[in-house]
Amino acid sequence: MSKGRGSRGDFATTLWNLKGLRKLHVKSYGCQMNVYDSDRMADLLTSDASYVETGAPEEADVIILNTCHIREKAAEKVYSELGRIRGLKREAARSGRNLIVAVAGCVAQAEGEEIVRRAPLVDVVVGPQNYHRLPALLARAERGAKVVDTEFPVEDKFDRLAPPAAATVRARGVTSFVTVQEGCDKFCTFCVVPYTRGAEVSRPVAAIVAEVENLARAGVREVTLIGQNVNAYHGKTANGGQATLGRLLHRLADVSGVKRLRYTTSHPRDMDEDLIAAHRDLAVLMPQLHLPVQSGSDRVLAAMNRRHTRADYLDVIARLRAARPDIAFTSDFIVGFPGETEEDFSDTLRIVEDVRFAGAFSFKYSPRPGTPAAERGDQIADEVKTERLARLQECIDRHQRAFNRSCVGQKLEVLFEKPGRISGQLVGRSPYLQPVQVMAPTSLIGQIATVRITDVGSNSLFGTLHPVEAEEPALAGAGG
Ligand code: 5AD
Ligand code: SF4
Repeated sequence: MSKGRGSRGDFATTLWNLKGLRKLHVKSYGCQMNVYDSDRMADLLTSDASYVETGAPEEADVIILNTCHIREKAAEKVYSELGRIRGLKREAARSGRNLIVAVAGCVAQAEGEEIVRRAPLVDVVVGPQNYHRLPALLARAERGAKVVDTEFPVEDKFDRLAPPAAATVRARGVTSFVTVQEGCDKFCTFCVVPYTRGAEVSRPVAAIVAEVENLARAGVREVTLIGQNVNAYHGKTANGGQATLGRLLHRLADVSGVKRLRYTTSHPRDMDEDLIAAHRDLAVLMPQLHLPVQSGSDRVLAAMNRRHTRADYLDVIARLRAARPDIAFTSDFIVGFPGETEEDFSDTLRIVEDVRFAGAFSFKYSPRPGTPAAERGDQIADEVKTERLARLQECIDRHQRAFNRSCVGQKLEVLFEKPGRISGQLVGRSPYLQPVQVMAPTSLIGQIATVRITDVGSNSLFGTLHPVEAEEPALAGAGG
């Protein structure tokens, strides 16, 4: 999955051209963390008016590829994208422009100097910890240097990148991600994140509150707090203490204008009492939780170093359901982890039946160099992984369809985000994060309205605006 970012429009671009500003194109791959980081890099580079963003790579002076390393052949995909950019760089040189190419994100962190060796057109390689140094790194590249910066610095990236830049964070619609935590100390044996993103770091509460207040003032109504292991959050409070994610959510629930809060991605081990209670106590905390389980087999969970059993996971689910009965769960699964037997796999199918997930991502295990599971001799044949993945996805899809069908006839609160594909239609999200398509006036963008769900499509729900007045006429004349 990749996403080119938007431009500011021709007139503005022309004005900026006249001022001699350099044009920046950021292309983002992978997770929400990367989308957020791409936005922050763009904010940083455009905030002092030295760059202007463009959606068109062919007119860019700087191209940043913000890469993701979770998926299979991630590095190879980056090299083939760089092959395409080589043509742009040549074109630019012909017209007297110096196109700077930067590779950021987890592939940059994992491959380091190898990127410049294999793709000499690359000028800057920068790891996720060092984005705040981008202006200086790009300036060095413009003077002709090759720059590789993948150190884990002692200084806190958040101190440098997020605030004081909080004042310059630009809202980009009705919903926004806010990074509250980064990195991971869990070391699941299949995962590169602890190596590419480093140790866990949490942003202080005050910085997050300032950013959320700023976004709310700019029209954001739904904030999703993100981090690789977001519920391990333990940020500093103003009085020198530490706040859990549950406490942070309580604080953010008071920010005026914020109507919905979510957080992702969580680890089952870090679902503490505070956080479970927040699901009971905070109406703005949406009843939907992405809680990766990866496998339903205790043997595989232990080999993955997940630090929880199947029973632990089911217990957390039960406690969350007790706190918020309508909560919907989604998850991540890996099939074909080294040594996974047919019996292990059937435990995974069984946990899908037990929890009745509202949706899930599922992946074939893919060895990541440098991780313990990649070294194991009992790797599973690809045909077996493919076959198990198909069976798992059939099971997940069945539950997802059942969940979506159960919404038909219900009245759900929908936060409208943007126009739909059909004229007159808006798209919003239900509390359970399902896209909902409704014929509704554009004035409802940014608002929450009650929608009666009438039908289910392959990826979204359909509904009609609920005529509130018709339902409550008795109130009009009723005396005290
Ligand atoms: N192979 C397959 N899937 C993986 N994931 C992470 N590492 C791997 C890997 N080596 C999946 C996990 C994680 C999601 C983001 O990606 O399910 O939760
Ligand atoms: Fe990777 Fe998540 Fe495990 Fe951390 S908790 S190592 S990010 S899978």
